[in-house]
Amino acid sequence: MLSMKRATLEKNPGDVSSMFDDVAAKYDLMNTVLTGGQVYGWRRTTTVAIDPKPGEKILDLAAGTGTSSAEYAKAGAEVVALDFSAGMIEEGRRRYPHLNFVQGDAMDLPFEDNTFDAVTISYGLRNVNDPHKALAEMYRVVKPGGRLVVAEFSQPQNAAFNQLYRFFSDQIMPLMAKFSSDPPAYDYLVESIRKWPAQREFAQWVAAAGWRGVEYKNMSGGIVALHRAWK
Ligand SMILES: C[S@@+](CC[C@H](N)C(=O)[O-])C[C@H]1O[C@@H](n2cnc3c(N)ncnc32)[C@H](O)[C@@H]1O
Repeated sequence: MLSMKRATLEKNPGDVSSMFDDVAAKYDLMNTVLTGGQVYGWRRTTTVAIDPKPGEKILDLAAGTGTSSAEYAKAGAEVVALDFSAGMIEEGRRRYPHLNFVQGDAMDLPFEDNTFDAVTISYGLRNVNDPHKALAEMYRVVKPGGRLVVAEFSQPQNAAFNQLYRFFSDQIMPLMAKFSSDPPAYDYLVESIRKWPAQREFAQWVAAAGWRGVEYKNMSGGIVALHRAWK
């Protein structure tokens, strides 16, 4: 649907949600194409970091079409896949009918304090209107001793690699996006990645929300960073 409204960097929740409604059907395919398949490795490393165990309660926020949630459920965990886009959830329910999808807002979670063993968010926090509020909400709903894992685009650490990556994201990705069903959504993707804090600054945001022992690991040279912390 080329007539879609794209979200701006103000991340108005209505615009973000309808933008994802519109891209839902092709979302996972575009992820594979735009990342050259690297997303599969990033997802495997994220699952290892979360370490889902049978019977554990795991909250996957901004879960979209449930691709990440399905992996955690496969390990035997009881997963709640929350997202505010009705379109992404509809696509997710079609693909993974066994998953528990909940429509809700990451900034105002519909759960009691101390409910989950782990809370995680993959490529979602960057799109949330107030990520600090979401980090505080995640802290509230996790049990004491529970864990946080955030996978998000970040900044390549090596200067030469960073330049190459910038060239790819500024010149090549927009060209690739032109062939997608929703080019404006992919302009938003590039701009939102550029605006997102680098590894260390984001680690400070996590700590400021009350989380302890914040650490991170770079994936693909820092194109993506995986931050971990505990309550
Ligand atoms: C890039 S997708 C990531 C989907 C999935 N986590 C994955 O790994 O593929 C971002 C998702 O964040 C959701 N989102 C953004 N802001 C949200 C909020 N405040 N509450 C819940 N979901 C939100 C969008 O609807 C969208 O599905």
